[in-house]
Amino acid sequence: MKTVIGIDLGTSTTEAAIYRNGIVEMILNLEEEIITPSAIGIDDKGKWVVGKRAMSQLILSPQNTAIEVKRKIGTDSRISIGGKNYTPVELSAKLLEYVRTYASEYLGEDIRNAVISVPAYFNETQRQETIEAGTKAGFKVERILNEPTAAALSYGLAHMDEESHILVYDLGGGTFDVTLLEMFGGVLEVKASAGDNQLGGKDFDEAIMNSLIKDFQKKHGVDLRQQRQAMVKLKEEAEQCKKTLSKEDSYRILIPAIAKVGGHPVELDTTITRKDFEALVRPLVERTHKPIDVVLSDSGITANKLDRIILVGGSTRMPMIAADIEAYLGKAPDSAVNPDYAVSEGAAIQAAIIAGLIDPSEGLVMTDVNPYSLGVQCIKDGNPDYFSVIIPRNVTIPASKTQRYYTNYPGQTEVEVGIYQGESSTASRNHFLGDFHLSEIPANYSEVESIDITFSYNLNGMLDVTATVVSTGKNAKLSINMQNQENGPEIPDEEEEAHVSYSNWKDSPISGDYRAVIRRAERILKRLDEDDDERDEIESLLNDLKAAIANEDADEADDLEDDLVDLLESLED
Ligand SMILES: Nc1ncnc2c1ncn2[C@@H]1O[C@H](COP(=O)(O)OP(=O)(O)OP(=O)(O)O)[C@@H](O)[C@H]1O
Ligand SMILES: [Mg+2]
Repeated sequence: MKTVIGIDLGTSTTEAAIYRNGIVEMILNLEEEIITPSAIGIDDKGKWVVGKRAMSQLILSPQNTAIEVKRKIGTDSRISIGGKNYTPVELSAKLLEYVRTYASEYLGEDIRNAVISVPAYFNETQRQETIEAGTKAGFKVERILNEPTAAALSYGLAHMDEESHILVYDLGGGTFDVTLLEMFGGVLEVKASAGDNQLGGKDFDEAIMNSLIKDFQKKHGVDLRQQRQAMVKLKEEAEQCKKTLSKEDSYRILIPAIAKVGGHPVELDTTITRKDFEALVRPLVERTHKPIDVVLSDSGITANKLDRIILVGGSTRMPMIAADIEAYLGKAPDSAVNPDYAVSEGAAIQAAIIAGLIDPSEGLVMTDVNPYSLGVQCIKDGNPDYFSVIIPRNVTIPASKTQRYYTNYPGQTEVEVGIYQGESSTASRNHFLGDFHLSEIPANYSEVESIDITFSYNLNGMLDVTATVVSTGKNAKLSINMQNQENGPEIPDEEEEAHVSYSNWKDSPISGDYRAVIRRAERILKRLDEDDDERDEIESLLNDLKAAIANEDADEADDLEDDLVDLLESLED
């Protein structure tokens, strides 16, 4: 039987756990510690260092060290280490590789299978990139699990016979998630999830830093932001200050020789009280209210029906968090789970269910929700970019829904079905998931022929989209992998080399401006016959355009885009 571990890949810290001998056990890293800082670096000998060792070189060589990489996952950002740029996926993979090494060491076998948790509010790209990082690290990622669901699983295993509504409030280092679950007879049902991908302890540190920087500038006329070393020191002190204020009433920040003013070293010396701090970060705490409201209203449960509020994530140690929750919801949270371990413990429980060690028929069956609305792009009141929702957000999955659409103009015989995820009423502002083509619609007056579009979202994370011409039954489909499943084929290195000049166009900061036209061209290419004369012309323009994007040459790309659009339009006429 394969051993599957659970991993909480956090913004600030990473933990791994295993279910064995009937209990969940936290896995110790090579330093014999449970908590591994999510830091990656290159040491002075040019070797990769991860965790505590990377963290401890952060102050001395910030240019060789990266932290809070998870914040960047799913974006085109590059992170510089030792003068070289890395993708968030590459660096997350280094972190996961370390987890794989220490878990293998701890368990005495080569560990290759894992469940990795992500914030419930991660979008599809962020999820896919997490899987990619796991694969790069040598894992088969068995499942991507939502962090609050994991925390609830960890709670649920010990309280299986309870019947209750549970609110999981997870404020970590970089993300905020809130999830409402219902538990009865060992079934744990996720009712709704919401959150903020860009809110966490990091922002509380930054609030302190910003206030110190402002004061320093006022006093000495020096902008500390320009000095990397000073900023790293400031960040460390700000976090220490924040953590100390969770227990004590004040904290003195003293950094000798933080900068030079007029050639002389100047210190930073200031005392921050808990009251000062709480006033400073009040707006951040208030940003948690909206997701809480969304979760309550989406699940149709009022605050007074909540039986338990579970706190997860290191940032919930700030006393103002529990106080704010109690003031806002009229109920105090309880400390039923370990806020640092709960997510990885839950991931390990999910891993045990997958490995067959826990029989879900005896309890702990889980249902989940889709955190974002799913739908298609269509024309509404003349707007060609309207987002028509088919499965609304926070619907329990599995879910299947059908909507009927009509042709737009007389003689229309085909439609493009563009599938998106998100909450904007403008389709292209949402997250694009895929598209396909439905043809052979009988030519008719406009709005006579109807097309049914069905979305089926199953628990394995597959979204099947089918479009059917109602009058003839002719249909077309697309399946989108919304979670992991089998990890895709590895691309051999040589092939990767050959494509490199333009295949990395998507990583360019200007790529967003051209995605629409590239998709359009690729769609048309698919439709053209192999020996079509225009094919070569489109392909060559398309490749030139991608190369220009990859080289970040916007002028060249704009010219090529114009040429391409002219050509496509001549074909579509
Ligand atoms: N005693 C404390 N008081 C206040 N904040 C704390 C305390 N201990 C830890 N933190 C903060 O908790 C955060 C880390 O929490 P945690 O390890 O749960 O996050 P994570 O899982 O890495 O992040 P995420 O879940 O957002 O990806 C850091 O911002 C840290 O400063
Ligand atoms: Mg976390």
